[in-house]
Amino acid sequence: MWNAIAEKLLDAKKIVFVTGAGISQESGIPTFRGKEGLWRKYDPMQLATIDAFYQDPKLVWEWYEERRHNILGAKPNPGHLAIAELEKYKDVHILTQNIDGLHQRAGSKNVYELHGSIITIKCTVCSFKDKITTGFSSLPPLCKCGNMLRPDVVWFGESLPQDVWKSAMEQASTCDIMIVVGTSLAVSPANLLPVYAKQNRAIMVEVNIDPTPMSYTMDVSLRKSAANALPGLVDLVSGKVF
Ligand code: APR
Repeated sequence: MWNAIAEKLLDAKKIVFVTGAGISQESGIPTFRGKEGLWRKYDPMQLATIDAFYQDPKLVWEWYEERRHNILGAKPNPGHLAIAELEKYKDVHILTQNIDGLHQRAGSKNVYELHGSIITIKCTVCSFKDKITTGFSSLPPLCKCGNMLRPDVVWFGESLPQDVWKSAMEQASTCDIMIVVGTSLAVSPANLLPVYAKQNRAIMVEVNIDPTPMSYTMDVSLRKSAANALPGLVDLVSGKVF
């Protein structure tokens, strides 16, 4: 599966991953646009925009709390674990659109959460931000300053955290190999990251069960699941197989 670029993989210093919901699908977390995708069941404009939040903060909080509990019950799968293992051999950076924290729970260190995290909250007014450690007695939860707290995630129409986006662009533009895993590349600006890598002559790899708008630009396009394809990458780089 990886032999076509075995030499490049062995020579590479920095490998950057762009990941999406597909890498967590085998951990039991639904994707957004697939057959069972969240956006097939729910209207994102009712649940994942700032207007929706101010319209019905309780509904939005209930939806995020349901997702948070599902995510806390999930485990990293062999796809997440393989990327974490790769850090033993290469300079690995993960630019993820996922808010589930599974890369970190798998042991990955250099994780850039482009769309925030479902396990942190922030105040809608003051600068308060913290990890969620317990449930909430009532929804929406309130900050000490008296204003509503919100999930620390990026909603449609909101900009990404500037510092995270700047670092992500830096990593995408300076990698030897970019591996895009489990994302439809439907959402900007995250879907620009493979473009930056390509412009900087990185070797481009896609691991995705469906084709994406960037499949035609890839050096290798694996129509495989993440949990199935990624362990083979580590076997090759670690010398387990040639
Ligand atoms: N292995 C590899 N790829 C998979 C797997 C799997 N097990 N399961 C699904 N896929 C692929 C699908 O073919 C699809 O192309 O993963 C992709 C998931 O695409 P989306 O559901 O659109 O998720 P994502 O690309 O992460 O969405 C980006 O959109 O709604 C926003 O903020 C949300 O971060 C999300 C962003």
